[in-house]
Amino acid sequence: MAEESFTIIDNRSGNEVTVPIVDGTISSAALRQLDKGMWFYDPAYLSTANCDSKITFIDGAEGILRYRGYPIEQLADSSSFLEVCYLLLHGELPTQAQSDVWVDHITNHTYVHENIARFMQGFRYDAHPMGTLVSTVAGLSTFYPEAKDIDDPHNRMIQIIRLIAKMPTMAAFAYKNRLGLPYEYPVNNLGYTGNFLRMMWNVADPSFEPDPILTKALDVLFILHADHEQNCSTTTMRTVGSSQADPYSAVAAATCGLYGPLHGGANEKVIRMLHEIGSYENVDAYVEKVKSGEMLLQGFGHRVYKNYDPRAKIIKQTADRVFNVTGMNPLLDIAMKLEEVALSDSYFVDRSLYPNVDFYSGLIYEAMGFPMDMFTVLFAIGRTPGWLAHWQEMLDDPEQKIYRPRQKYTGPDERSYVAIGNR
Ligand code: ACO
Repeated sequence: MAEESFTIIDNRSGNEVTVPIVDGTISSAALRQLDKGMWFYDPAYLSTANCDSKITFIDGAEGILRYRGYPIEQLADSSSFLEVCYLLLHGELPTQAQSDVWVDHITNHTYVHENIARFMQGFRYDAHPMGTLVSTVAGLSTFYPEAKDIDDPHNRMIQIIRLIAKMPTMAAFAYKNRLGLPYEYPVNNLGYTGNFLRMMWNVADPSFEPDPILTKALDVLFILHADHEQNCSTTTMRTVGSSQADPYSAVAAATCGLYGPLHGGANEKVIRMLHEIGSYENVDAYVEKVKSGEMLLQGFGHRVYKNYDPRAKIIKQTADRVFNVTGMNPLLDIAMKLEEVALSDSYFVDRSLYPNVDFYSGLIYEAMGFPMDMFTVLFAIGRTPGWLAHWQEMLDDPEQKIYRPRQKYTGPDERSYVAIGNR
């Protein structure tokens, strides 16, 4: 059998180095044995693995996603979001006793300090809830200064519990601010997702109960968003965390990474696109515009999946259950036609462009009554355990250090300063 290695030859000197292939990767440090001034040039990390991870497995060609070895389909079907949080963070599914303690801890940390609730009221009535969320999460670090002690695993877990527990509270408060309505405080008799829906929708009804089908559907959506290995926001979490910043600051930074339209903001863009297309008949003309490069087909394509995103399949099934309760979202017809046209067109087939997680999730959120600018906030609630699992894993990994890539300098050579009057 051929040796599982690469040999790199420096043609300038004739020196060579043999680099073993380990788990489908070769160590870039080996190249530097040949030349200490040589770097790999890899814009946007298209071919770089930055860490070992035991959390999430993705096979983009086959459309496979597993958390800690468990297929996403089974977790969406049989688990709950809080159980998935435990799995991501601890590596194993909890026993009943562990689950009871875990759920109890999260349930008892959902309140935010009253000063947080008050400072959130300082945002303008039209503040984008992602901006409000980012700032408020960062603000939490000032309330828990002990979070800076990132070397103590017990202390870390307390901050992790606080973050998972408080994200829905801050998200719902950000929404209520916009309406000028009083905050609805968490209640302990509802589960994580039901409690969030109550904080979102309830006004003045002490007997309010969230719809169980919508609660289950949103819980599934949180599960589907819980982790996706080294994406833009998770890499941001690891990058900021690698400087040993506290987890609130790192989660705020990761939330900023998620905010952009090429990442977590795409679901909002999908709905805007479907509204812009407006009717079934306009789909073909829109696809032609995409093919001519005028715009992107939002919710299509993925850096890793070159097949149908497995999360999009589950979301499509979940949509049927949601629409039975809420009534049909009229944009669904346009979305399905768009998918059909795109999947049979060589432009999309040749580039392996398939619907991603964001293509159908916005339709569900919209049918449930969430305004568009809350979509990415929902994504952030779901992704928080994934960010924190990676943060923990990075801190415990002896190979990890402060993140510090190199660059190729292409600016001017040395030149002399010119006084302002002579420019
Ligand atoms: N619509 C039309 N063409 C597209 C799309 C799209 N949505 N996505 C990629 N392409 C084309 C590119 O123009 C490029 O064509 P070319 O080879 O002729 O230049 C080719 O497909 C490859 O695309 P890249 O941009 O190189 O792929 P990359 O891996 O860098 O980008 C990304 C992935 C950012 C997701 C991209 O597909 C995109 O912008 N999609 C739309 C936004 C979106 O849905 N984002 C959500 C991603 S999922 C998530 O973050 C949760």
